[in-house]
Amino acid sequence: MAIHFTRREFIVKLSSVSAAVASGGVLSACSDDPLPVDFNYGVASGDPLTDRIILWTHAKYQTGSDPVNLIYQVANDTAFSSIVSSGQVTSGAETGFTVKVDALGLSAGKTYFYRFLCGPSISPIGQARTLPASDATEVTFSVFSCADYPLGFFNAYAEAAKRDSHFAIHLGDYIYEYGTGSAPTDPIIQNLKRFADHANETLSLEDYRKRHALYKSDPDSKTLHAKMPMIAVWDDHEVSNDNYKDGAQGHDPATEGLYTVRRTAAIQAFHEWMPIRTGADKLKIYRSFDFGRLVSLHMLETRNIARDKQIAITELAGLEGAAKQASALAEYARADRQMLGAEQLAWLQQKMSGSQATWQVLGQQVLMARMESPVSVLSVLNGDSRDPAAQQRGLEAINAYLTAKAKKAAGAPLTSTETALLNPAINPKIGYNLDAWDGYIAAREAVLASALQLNKKLISLAGDTHNGWHSDLTLMGLANAALANVKVGEEFATPGVSSGGFEEYLPGFTPAQVKSLFENIVDDLRWLDPSRRGYLKMTFTATEAKGEWIFVNQVLSRTYSADLGHTAPFRAAKKAVAPDVFI
Ligand SMILES: [Fe+2]
Repeated sequence: MAIHFTRREFIVKLSSVSAAVASGGVLSACSDDPLPVDFNYGVASGDPLTDRIILWTHAKYQTGSDPVNLIYQVANDTAFSSIVSSGQVTSGAETGFTVKVDALGLSAGKTYFYRFLCGPSISPIGQARTLPASDATEVTFSVFSCADYPLGFFNAYAEAAKRDSHFAIHLGDYIYEYGTGSAPTDPIIQNLKRFADHANETLSLEDYRKRHALYKSDPDSKTLHAKMPMIAVWDDHEVSNDNYKDGAQGHDPATEGLYTVRRTAAIQAFHEWMPIRTGADKLKIYRSFDFGRLVSLHMLETRNIARDKQIAITELAGLEGAAKQASALAEYARADRQMLGAEQLAWLQQKMSGSQATWQVLGQQVLMARMESPVSVLSVLNGDSRDPAAQQRGLEAINAYLTAKAKKAAGAPLTSTETALLNPAINPKIGYNLDAWDGYIAAREAVLASALQLNKKLISLAGDTHNGWHSDLTLMGLANAALANVKVGEEFATPGVSSGGFEEYLPGFTPAQVKSLFENIVDDLRWLDPSRRGYLKMTFTATEAKGEWIFVNQVLSRTYSADLGHTAPFRAAKKAVAPDVFI
């Protein structure tokens, strides 16, 4: 007869199994259970340490909703003839039938295989890897962000699984909360039939669980997770668009209820469905990983703990009147305007200070580099102005600014208008995206100044924009003018897996124009790809940090090709500012 417990019976049985384990007995739970169990969402591993790793799966009886009593196994081989860690874990309704376990007793720098079993039902086999020992000579990461399911196939996941890296890092927008109504009406997108699972945005725990399940049903997601451990943080879309500590641009309390209720549901589902080591406070997902003495990876939380509300670019650029601009400027410059919050910043400073690793790497959501453009451009070209006339005005503003800059560089005489364009007191530069660190300049300065003071080689990994970027990280000199424009590190930003990039926001420009305008206007930007999807591979050795941007040729079919679009090493020197030439 099947061993098929109710939850209460199971808890009783579990105590006896624990006792059996403690006394050296044999684990027997589920081993004779003939009831079929589905592992519909594959397996995943994550948050590796040198001696342990989180293993994840979803397990549910094909009929009924009773808890499923599983055995997990970690082995040296795919035949599981040499098991090094095993135990028991239960999937039940209280976690949406997901399970996570911290598999202990592993060795540093080793590849393992793992699976879950319940009687004759066996999950797919996953490959995991522990953090390397202190003598590691090279570590590689596949870095991802922004996988919008309805917009395309996760070919970047498939390609990364083929090419392999030691570890995957996901910087957020692993899911999107949108309902079917927000998908583009483009017939090509409609033909993909990758619809969101319901009409409205996700609000309840059940909604977010279904959404995570939809994403984890994707075959390329399953392949990636089974191939390498993932270290993940959320960005905004795991909860709601452009969220901050008290709300979100995408959340309307009048129609969608209390924001904190929604956020609690979203965070609960994230911890259920992602292979992350869950602590007592589910919001505090900031954590560090040491890859020998090569890399200390500090994963940051920039959305839900401390982030102050975003400033509107239209207000800061003066489009909504002088009064609003003055108040936006005051908020922009406020010394205690928060992104990480005091506690997380102190933790980061302490982690960087105590680290013996060559490279201090921040795994975080939004661009940290100064993406500053003159107000003369931003006042006519911003996220709110996608119509062709606005795009044309933007093009003219860019041309005017770059022409003035090029003339000055060539020593040619300037008109009074051109002189004004180049005067930062009249035409200051501000960040184009105030949802990124450009909207939190004091908080950014605190992180960069700490790295400089500690004399650490700093690298920021960022997502969010859906485009690939490589930039210098420089100080603004807010607290000490002598440090203005001093280089502290570099940022390598990954393109989106499937979400649309600048081609969506600047439809009046060709990709070459977007690339040229950003690379010429933004002083700290070394390279941009504004139109292709893919992922970023990072390689670290004792002497080099290298970014490789791997692009897929399309996301509208699972048949695709991929190529290495750009390679950039970390350079000690700042970007040389060349005379500007705009296409
Ligand atoms: Fe995104």
